[in-house]
Amino acid sequence: MDHSGFLLFLGSISLFLLLLPEASRASLQSTGRIDPGFQGSSMSFIDHDGLFLLSNNSNFALGFTNTQDVTLFLLVVVHLGSSQVIWSANRRSPVSNSDKFIFSEDGKVSLQRNGGVVWTADTGGRAVSAIELQDSGNLVLLGNNSSVVWQSFSHPTDTLIVNQDFVEGMKLVSDPSPTNLTYSLEIKSGDMILSAGFKIPQPYWSIQKDNRKTINKDGGKVTLASLDANSWKFFDANKVLLWQFIFSDTNSNATWVAVLGNDGFISFYNLDNGQSLAPSPTKIPSDPCGRPEPCDAYSICSDNNRCVCPSALSARPNCKTGIVSACDASNGSTDLVNVGHQLGYFALGFVPPSSKTDLEGCKASCRNNCSCIALFFQSSSGKCFLFPEVGSFQSSGAGSSFDTYIKVLSNGGSSTDSAGDGNSKGFPVVVIIVVATLLVIIGLCYLAVRYYKRKKTLQESLHDSSEDDNFLESLSGMPVRFSYKDLQTATNNFSVKLGQGGFGSVYQGVLPDGTRLAVKKLEGIGQGKKEFRAEVSIIGSIHHHHLVRLKGFCAEGTHRLLAYEFMANGSLDKWIFKKDNEFMLDWETRFSIAVGTAKGLAYLHEDCDVKIIHCDIKPENVLIDDNFIAKVSDFGLAKLMTREQSHVFTTLRGTRGYLAPEWITNYAISEKSDVYSYGMLLLEIIGGRKNYDPAETSEKSHFPSLAFKMMEEGKVREILDSKLKYDEADERVSTAIKVALWCIQDDMYLRPAMTKVVQMLEGLCPVPHPPTSSPLGSRLFPSFFKSISEGGTSSGPSDCNSDAFLSAVRLSGPR
Ligand SMILES: *[C@@H]1O[C@H](CO)[C@@H](O)[C@H](O)[C@H]1NC(C)=O
Ligand SMILES: *[C@@H]1O[C@H](CO)[C@@H](O)[C@H](O)[C@H]1NC(C)=O
Ligand SMILES: *[C@@H]1O[C@H](CO)[C@@H](O)[C@H](O)[C@H]1NC(C)=O
Ligand SMILES: *[C@@H]1O[C@H](CO)[C@@H](O)[C@H](O)[C@H]1NC(C)=O
Ligand SMILES: *[C@@H]1O[C@H](CO)[C@@H](O)[C@H](O)[C@H]1NC(C)=O
Ligand SMILES: *[C@@H]1O[C@H](CO)[C@@H](O)[C@H](O)[C@H]1NC(C)=O
Ligand SMILES: *[C@@H]1O[C@H](CO)[C@@H](O)[C@H](O)[C@H]1NC(C)=O
Repeated sequence: MDHSGFLLFLGSISLFLLLLPEASRASLQSTGRIDPGFQGSSMSFIDHDGLFLLSNNSNFALGFTNTQDVTLFLLVVVHLGSSQVIWSANRRSPVSNSDKFIFSEDGKVSLQRNGGVVWTADTGGRAVSAIELQDSGNLVLLGNNSSVVWQSFSHPTDTLIVNQDFVEGMKLVSDPSPTNLTYSLEIKSGDMILSAGFKIPQPYWSIQKDNRKTINKDGGKVTLASLDANSWKFFDANKVLLWQFIFSDTNSNATWVAVLGNDGFISFYNLDNGQSLAPSPTKIPSDPCGRPEPCDAYSICSDNNRCVCPSALSARPNCKTGIVSACDASNGSTDLVNVGHQLGYFALGFVPPSSKTDLEGCKASCRNNCSCIALFFQSSSGKCFLFPEVGSFQSSGAGSSFDTYIKVLSNGGSSTDSAGDGNSKGFPVVVIIVVATLLVIIGLCYLAVRYYKRKKTLQESLHDSSEDDNFLESLSGMPVRFSYKDLQTATNNFSVKLGQGGFGSVYQGVLPDGTRLAVKKLEGIGQGKKEFRAEVSIIGSIHHHHLVRLKGFCAEGTHRLLAYEFMANGSLDKWIFKKDNEFMLDWETRFSIAVGTAKGLAYLHEDCDVKIIHCDIKPENVLIDDNFIAKVSDFGLAKLMTREQSHVFTTLRGTRGYLAPEWITNYAISEKSDVYSYGMLLLEIIGGRKNYDPAETSEKSHFPSLAFKMMEEGKVREILDSKLKYDEADERVSTAIKVALWCIQDDMYLRPAMTKVVQMLEGLCPVPHPPTSSPLGSRLFPSFFKSISEGGTSSGPSDCNSDAFLSAVRLSGPR
């Protein structure tokens, strides 16, 4: 790892921070409403995760949240308990972290990028006098006489929440699918209709045709729909309840939302379930194959959502017709081929037929119409349907079945028999392909067998024990490479979530041999496979008693996963911030966790082949094993960030309390920044509380200041967790406090190196009284700071870096 390059990169980020003047000023979050003259960006509200307006009940917030790409932000209304976004202003045009949401003095509300307007609330020219975020999650702009001039509930994105009225004229639009198809929901002609966003939209569901609804009153026309408890209710113009669609068994006043996903389903989520949201089993539509694209276009979806390429296309590349877009191919010669006599298509129940004719007539009208690329013909009724674009087909399960023909480019393959069964001419090609494939497979098997034989001989010659595999792995210095499937199986399709970190979610997993794993799914890491493997091999080669061990990784397609050893006792925050007194870490354990963490960090800073700055030391990243040994996790990941994606921002968000001041000023980030974060962590371990706890009285809410004050007055007991027994004879308590206060000096040169921290904690080196944490401190102790930070080769109070000391505290090296 190029350390200086990394520093430069971090330095440039902190410079970037400096260039934003509001970054260093704390901006205050509002509750309930904002008045004119407000502006804010993601950066200026970094202390509040980018959120600047809370609803009175604190259930919802308005603010910025990042997209998959962590440098791009959306202005959203988010449900705080579940982190679910329920409305977004600019979801197709994200902004950067310095772009501002502006509520001007003259009553205009807009989101700006480089002076241009990305989004503005269309108030019909009326000035806005206040912005309110209501307890329902509705963002409301009020005019000068307190009338509503605009509200987010009338401009839904892809989500509807309880008590949000969905009326004619509104439209729910999904995010684009992987093939860039969107889905939309509208109330039209007295029905609520779900369609696929082709150039000519193709409906695939309507409430009228869904037989799962309960009917209150027949024959009405729907003009309004709204979620209420466990059902979706449909009303006519006189507010008479016509139908109910019940989507959950439990009838409670939960915060339900309906989300139109980019898979074409409308799913229902109960936001009160918190961070681990799972959709209710009831979905719209009910049949997975009844969606437009459960499979690729032209493929056939059968009962269990299995996708099959129709035989007429199987000889063609990627199961495609060769026609790029309808009518463009009109110059090349095309053929109609049959893909099945008993297929279904999602739109057929919702669109009128193009004509009524016989099969030949239907085929002729498609051949003579360049925009037609697929036809469906029902012989019983003579209905002929022509389509200019198609999704996937359904194998005829329920309902009527159709003769299906598609247009293909004649020279795109040889299976072009227009008479129907396209298989006869395709036969020779298929045979050639099958034979070639078989030959390749046989060749590969032969090579594999040879490889295994050689590997076995090699292993046997090296060792006879069962540890051979591991030995070979450690020989190559590489953690095991898993396939995505392996990890999917091991984690039971990522079902048990252990936590959510700056780099992605962590899931519990078990390997077939019973080894437990914590699998981290990295998000938004924009690196090629090669670079990723290079970093992984560095992380994987670092073995230390106090560092979480990387067992394996996966780099497949866009998937980037890391598999770590499993830590049965979870992360430190769960132990030190426990509210109940049921099981509490005693002083002995806390101290050993503090020392262990320091040793792990010292190893990263000083004993690895490449110096590693962690950049994200906090209780969530210190894990505890069965024996209450502390292990540092997530090291080396900061390097996985690309400059453009600068994942640091994710790391920054919500971690500010542990960040050294140089992150905000233009000083370069160094290992001393980790020392600061460690000091903050150590204080929390000692105090058994968060460093910033607004619940405490104002004097006590900022724990570091309190600790400095109490230390000055010699009141150690006031700093130590009041739930712990204080043994005055135990020097380690005041030692630990003093070390923590040294670590959190604003001046990075005053902070000791991690090796020194270990020595001081272990009593191998005296700990001078820390200066108070004002700029005055560094001026009062100029000579001391030099000696303690430079490793004290002179006669400073910390002259303990001699060889004798070093060997006494020899940090456990690679195992
Ligand atoms: C929030 O609470 C204040 C004080 O109770 C009240 O005046 C205001 O109307 C409330 N705002 C909203 C949006 O409910
Ligand atoms: C309220 O707005 C209207 C037009 O938008 C304007 O004519 C009127 O003077 C305003 N009233 C106050 C009190 O500002
Ligand atoms: C507020 O003003 C708008 C027009 O500016 C008007 O339609 C509405 O009735 C007024 N509301 C109240 C409560 O006066
Ligand atoms: C996706 O579709 C939208 C409009 O439907 C279009 O503007 C956009 O360019 C498309 N994107 C890609 C990657 O095809
Ligand atoms: C839901 O809340 C309403 C009032 O807020 C109440 O009347 C109703 O009984 C509640 N229903 C349930 C099932 O709790
Ligand atoms: C197709 O033919 C028309 C005239 O018949 C010609 O103008 C057009 O350029 C041709 N297109 C292609 C793609 O060859
Ligand atoms: C041509 O085909 C399209 C569908 O691809 C259909 O909508 C249109 O009605 C057809 N035109 C004629 C004249 O049949």
